[in-house]
Amino acid sequence: MNNIFDSHAHYDSDAFEPDRKELLSALQGQGVCGIINCGSDIASSLASLELADEFDFVYAACGIHPHEAEGCKEGYISVLKKLCMADKCVAVGEIGLDYHYDFSPRDIQKQVFEQQIILAKELDLPIIVHDREAHEDTLELLRKHKPKGVVHCFSGSAEMAKEIIRLGMYIGLGGAVTFKNARKPREVAAVVPSDRLLIETDCPYMTPVPHRGKRCDSSFIPFTAEVIAEVRNTTANEILDLTRRNANILFGLEL
Ligand code: NI
Repeated sequence: MNNIFDSHAHYDSDAFEPDRKELLSALQGQGVCGIINCGSDIASSLASLELADEFDFVYAACGIHPHEAEGCKEGYISVLKKLCMADKCVAVGEIGLDYHYDFSPRDIQKQVFEQQIILAKELDLPIIVHDREAHEDTLELLRKHKPKGVVHCFSGSAEMAKEIIRLGMYIGLGGAVTFKNARKPREVAAVVPSDRLLIETDCPYMTPVPHRGKRCDSSFIPFTAEVIAEVRNTTANEILDLTRRNANILFGLEL
């Protein structure tokens, strides 16, 4: 079994400092066939590309997270464009809007998100979207530009998921579906068509039950697949197979 495709991870995080290489080297033996490591600013996008250079099964997404939007220097988009043109960059991400923390002013978040959607379309790359408590404004920009991509760690309603699907995009589900009060994510897991679902960790965060509190890594994905399988009346293995297939299609890979 080698069908775990983690469509969203942050192995450049400090949480992996002590054992990053050993951990990544061991993952393929635990069934992991592919990982997209997502940047959140220029430095972590570069770090994602470095990890991708070192590990065959790791690919990078390069982008500016909404938390970092205010810190963008003038001309950042041309720097980002260069990174996105690297061989192993397969997406622009993670990008989007976060109105829960509001670490950057909302008008700047929207501007930086939109500039990166336009960049992705110019480079014909999918986007990886972070949307936290910003559903309306996120949808508005997705409707306006109709990019390819995925809304990761999807936290909207089943209705919103259907609209994302109609726009041609994918829904990414992670450890949150396993949490005790995860009514909404489970409703979403039940309605997403089989050809539009991706699975992810967002590690080191979002550790699935029964390992909450521990550092997350891609080998924990079967716990998430198990819960998604339950609400869809299928097997975890089938969920891993189809999410692997979908990730390969969206990111243009053969892992
Ligand atoms: Ni993330």
